[in-house]
Amino acid sequence: MIPKARKAVFPAAGLGTRFLPATKAQPKEMLPLVDKPLIQYGVEEAIHSGLQDIIIVTGRGKSAIEDHFDVSFELEHLLETRGKKDLLALVRGISDMIDISYVRQKEALGLGHAVLRAKELVGKEPFCVVLSDDVIDAEIPCLRQLQDVYEFYGASVVALMEVPKESISAYGVVDAEPVDHMGQSGRLFRIRNMVEKPKAEDAPSNLAIIGRYVLTPEIFTSIEAVEPGRGGEIQLTDGLKHLLRSRPVYGYKFEGKRYDAGDKLGFLQATVEFALKRYDLGGPFRQYLKSLPL
Ligand code: UTP
Repeated sequence: MIPKARKAVFPAAGLGTRFLPATKAQPKEMLPLVDKPLIQYGVEEAIHSGLQDIIIVTGRGKSAIEDHFDVSFELEHLLETRGKKDLLALVRGISDMIDISYVRQKEALGLGHAVLRAKELVGKEPFCVVLSDDVIDAEIPCLRQLQDVYEFYGASVVALMEVPKESISAYGVVDAEPVDHMGQSGRLFRIRNMVEKPKAEDAPSNLAIIGRYVLTPEIFTSIEAVEPGRGGEIQLTDGLKHLLRSRPVYGYKFEGKRYDAGDKLGFLQATVEFALKRYDLGGPFRQYLKSLPL
């Protein structure tokens, strides 16, 4: 029987340079989309996808993430004495959400290196990886979609998205052949090769890897085998390329919309669309946008 993934690793030790100066003293993962930090969207997606354990890879200056998911006695006491029951439930709900463990990446030596830091906590079982600055709005949570594929084939699966040629050089891009899956074609691919940030003319396809993965534990040995690249960084894409030599790796074009909230424009787009969807803010916010002389 194929074992299910139970744990999700959240690499959150990057420097967030694309969002300076906001990220100088504040983790990118704590930037609020409407009123919730980015990482909470990812954690909720993991919970709604059936995961039971969260492992967050943090670094220097990231303590706000731990505080956010911890109990806040003073705040809870204050809300209780003021009779603010709804807010109290909201705040308590965050710390009661799920078990979270933390591991540190002392230096930001790349996404592959960050994932490797979780090796001991993950153990020898399949696991998910969530990059919380990729916010995905989907009817069926993206991680759930990937796990359904994983549970069918028992092989690693990465999330894929079609990207226009002019922006493909910002992504890991796959060379892949389509596979019919559950009577569907055009969503599932068996990956032949992948290239990190290719020039548009060298890109093997328009299918880019997005920040959701289900990985088998062999990925750790593959990451360990990778030579560090520029700046001593170890890339997850290189680890996956190594894994491809001995194991199948699939890509799944998920259903849903992804926002690159680690980028200023992507963050603004996500903010507007999420605010418009909110039951309490959507109406007045739409009115306000309509009143602007655009
Ligand atoms: P990004 O590519 O978004 O890098 O990392 P970054 O450094 O955070 O941001 P920019 O590009 O400088 O603006 C994708 C994910 O991998 C994590 C980041 O925290 C983010 O969630 N990461 C990256 C690490 O945990 N460690 C690293 O060494 C690099």
